[in-house]
Amino acid sequence: MHTYFILKFAYMTKHIYIRSPDDFHHHLRDGEALNHLVPIVSSTFRRVIVMPNLNPPVTSVTQALEYRQRILNATPVGRDFCPLMTLYFTNKTSIEDIIAAKASGIIYGVKLYPAGATTNSDSGVTSMASIEPVLSAMEDAKLPLLIHGEVTDSDVDIFDREIVFIERVLKPLVLQHPHLKIVLEHITTKNAVDFIQTCTNADGTPNLNVAATITAHHLLYNRNHLLCSGLHPHMYCLPVLKRESHRLALLAAATSGDPHFFLGTDSAPHSIAQKECSVGCAGIFTGHAAIELYAEAFDSIGRIDALSDFVGVFGQQFYNLPPNEGIVELVREDWAVPDSYYIGKNCHVRPLRAGDVIRWKRLP
Ligand code: NCD
Ligand code: ZN
Repeated sequence: MHTYFILKFAYMTKHIYIRSPDDFHHHLRDGEALNHLVPIVSSTFRRVIVMPNLNPPVTSVTQALEYRQRILNATPVGRDFCPLMTLYFTNKTSIEDIIAAKASGIIYGVKLYPAGATTNSDSGVTSMASIEPVLSAMEDAKLPLLIHGEVTDSDVDIFDREIVFIERVLKPLVLQHPHLKIVLEHITTKNAVDFIQTCTNADGTPNLNVAATITAHHLLYNRNHLLCSGLHPHMYCLPVLKRESHRLALLAAATSGDPHFFLGTDSAPHSIAQKECSVGCAGIFTGHAAIELYAEAFDSIGRIDALSDFVGVFGQQFYNLPPNEGIVELVREDWAVPDSYYIGKNCHVRPLRAGDVIRWKRLP
């Protein structure tokens, strides 16, 4: 027994080398918080798809250029960090906005939030039918549509909102716009996995233009972690954590080698005060340890070998970006996560695993 254990340990991977990663879904926020968040995030990721749900949202190329400059100003000197900007889809987004976004060379997608679906989504789209011409313009321009895939109808149970969105909105959308590049963001259900894997056009041919990001927290946790043994506000995000069978389906998809699944952390910091109160904000901060958390998730089913492509190849292929040249070394070694990170204005954010350990560590 003892010998078996030692042998098994000897064969367990302890070090791995992965391609330098990019994050295809990240909330960097704005103002003073940028000065604290950008140094943390840029120490892990070279490129980041920056979400536009500021208040007010980023709806024009001019606003995106200004926001991008504020991010670059917050980047530590000498660090190679490239924010990939997005626009926020509103009812007023026009075909001209899409043409300008494509021509700008700095906009990588347009984010569609159904109005009211999540944090700062009040300006989101209220009718899919009314944005049809703009979607056609995006299809022509090959500008990706990034979707928060949840319906907001009050009569749809919160645990079913992604599933209903896929049936009611996404399936018709994909048939209507077979060449539109779509990312279904932060998927949380087996239904979403199945949809991506079997997506077909009207003539039955496979549709390869639809992909999905998966967060580390949806790979590591299920809804019991949010709701059992007390309410855990720092486990609350949208789409909300689902049951264990969905988590396992996500883990299988992320490690499957299917290039239509790739890394998007959805790291979404809120101050502790905004999380620990009677109506808490949705969002989990994972930017402090994103790669290490993904490594833990992949390793939990013995598939650490699949990590490099998920973080450094598949998303890059989807967005037509060259893979990064650098290599990152990870080691299986416990490290203690700080209780909080300061994000300015007397505010702290509680990171995932605060005060606890993470089992993989990134070497500098
Ligand atoms: C995000 C935020 O806080 O901006 N929150 C979240 O729970 N994921 C918004 C989002 O991506 O839905
Ligand atoms: Zn998000």
